[in-house]
Amino acid sequence: MNKLFAANWKMHKTASEAKQTVAELVGLTSGKVKADREVMIIPPFTALASAGEALRGAKNFLLGAQNFYPQKQGAFTGEISPGMLLDAGASFALTGHSERRHVLGETDGVVGTKTAFGLESGLGIILCVGEKIDERKAGELRAVLERQIRAGVRDVPKDIAPEKLALAYEPVWAIGTGEVAGPKEILEAHAFVRTMLSEIFGASASEMRILYGGSVKPDNASEIIALDNVDGVLVGGASLKADEFSRIVLA
Ligand code: 13P
Repeated sequence: MNKLFAANWKMHKTASEAKQTVAELVGLTSGKVKADREVMIIPPFTALASAGEALRGAKNFLLGAQNFYPQKQGAFTGEISPGMLLDAGASFALTGHSERRHVLGETDGVVGTKTAFGLESGLGIILCVGEKIDERKAGELRAVLERQIRAGVRDVPKDIAPEKLALAYEPVWAIGTGEVAGPKEILEAHAFVRTMLSEIFGASASEMRILYGGSVKPDNASEIIALDNVDGVLVGGASLKADEFSRIVLA
């Protein structure tokens, strides 16, 4: 299974800025990305086309989207469908990101509906899970992850192709804070996520990627990526500059 290095740009970059950053990143990494690595750029909707254009033809580069609405089309002002994302060149989308859960108010139920609908529509999905600091302090790590995972994949067919569904463990307290989960914490959470996936999906769970996200930087990426059950990283702040993200991709 290829390791995935995903850049979640959140609400950053215009179309032209995105194009320039992707072009720089492709230039900096060209011919140097290990054969078992893939790079995914996840720009805002308005920059999907220009980012997609800039990465076209670049080996092992993919385009992803940050969000969608779980309907084919209709009277849903302001929303974007999976079909529109596929048409714009995205092959994956995020669901359950902590900012969607905790800033935009998405419930476990909504995340489950979106995950199943996105997969059914032909997108690959990166389902994000993770505990808040008070939940960790209360010893609820496993309970939170179990609840989010079970609800997140509730309607996903058990025979889903494992390369279409990835999980991202992003402890909320490590997102954008500079605070990274230590190796022990990452190992524990990722092993638990793998066990949950195995319980739900059986043997194919070993082929599902589990990414770590939360203050990943060039100087901690190689240590994180080498840990058991870490099949990639989901990077926010440090993915915005081509130079910084290239050092993570090449770490
Ligand atoms: P940071 O890398 O900025 O901590 O963000 C992580 C994240 O939320 C990626 O989805």
